Amino acid sequence: MTNAVAVITGGSSGLGEAAALRFARDGYDVVLLDVDKTGGERVADVVRALGRKAAFQFCDVGNPAAVDAAAQMVSENFGPVEVLVTSAALQPNPECIMTMDMDWHDKMWRVNYFGTVYTCQAFARLMIPNNKGSIVTLGSIHSRMPLPLPGYNVIKVAIERFTQLLAVELGRFTIRVNCVGPTHVMTPPLLKAIAEGERDESKIMAPHALPYLPEPEDVAGAIAFLASDQAKAITGVLLPIDSGIIAGDAFVTYAGGIPWLK
Ligand SMILES: NC(=O)c1ccc[n+]([C@@H]2O[C@H](COP(=O)([O-])OP(=O)(O)OC[C@H]3O[C@@H](n4cnc5c(N)ncnc54)[C@H](O)[C@@H]3O)[C@@H](O)[C@H]2O)c1
Repeated sequence: MTNAVAVITGGSSGLGEAAALRFARDGYDVVLLDVDKTGGERVADVVRALGRKAAFQFCDVGNPAAVDAAAQMVSENFGPVEVLVTSAALQPNPECIMTMDMDWHDKMWRVNYFGTVYTCQAFARLMIPNNKGSIVTLGSIHSRMPLPLPGYNVIKVAIERFTQLLAVELGRFTIRVNCVGPTHVMTPPLLKAIAEGERDESKIMAPHALPYLPEPEDVAGAIAFLASDQAKAITGVLLPIDSGIIAGDAFVTYAGGIPWLK
C-alpha cells in the first residue's frame, strides 16, 4: 500500500468509474475529475469503502484553468500522481459532415480532444519531478476504423497520435503514455443511444470475432495493465480491447462470403 494517486477524468460514470474502482482495489488513492457531481461523489464513496483516500473535484476538462486548479488541489492534498486516465468525453449520434452542427463539434473538440491535452499537460507536470508516471488515454476502435460520427471519429484518431507524440516527449522522464481502444461497451451513453433508437443492438455484434463485448471491468483491467510495471517497456501504443471487431469488420461485407457460414 502506498499513498500514490490515480487521477481519473470522467470518473463519475462508465469506463472512468470502472478504472477508478480498479485502481482503488490495486492500492491507489483516487481523484475523480468530472462535471457529474452526483456520480463522482457516489464513486468516491465506493473508493473510500475500499479503504483508499478519494476526492471528487468538479472540473470541466475543456477549461484549462479548471484543470490547473484541480492539479493544484491534488498536489496539495494527495501523494505523488502516478497514474492519469483521461476518460471524460461527450458521445454523439451518427451524422453527416455536410450538415453537422459546428457549435456541437466545437464543444466536442474542446472536451474530448483539448480536455485530454489539458489534463495530460497539467498532471504530467506533477509527474516529471518524480521521474515516474503512467498516462492512459481513451481512444476507441474509432481511432482505427472510419465510422459515421465525423467529430468523435476524427478526435479519436487525433488522440491516438497525440498519445504517441506525448510518449516520445515524456519517455526521458520514465513517464509512459498509452491509449486503449475499446469497441462498444454497454456504458450509460451507449445504453441510452440504443434505447433512443440511435444504435441498432442487433447489428452491434455482427463484425466482432468474439460472441461478447468487453465489460467496463475488461477495459479497466487493460488500463491497469498499461499503468503497471508489467508494461514498463510499453509506451506510445494503442491497445484495442475490441472483441475482434477490427479484425472481423471487413468479413461482414466480403464478397466471397464467410466460409464457415456457407
Ligand atoms: N462505452 C463505449 O462504447 C466506448 C467505446 C470506446 C471508447 N469509449 C471512450 O471511453 C470514454 C468513457 O466513455 P463512457 O462510455 O464511460 O462514457 P460515460 O458517459 O459513462 O463517461 C464519460 C464521463 O465524462 C464526463 N464528462 C463529460 N463532459 C465532461 C467535461 N467537460 N469535463 C469532465 N468530465 C466530463 C461525464 O460526466 C461522464 O461521467 C470516452 O472517452 C469514450 O469516448 C467508450
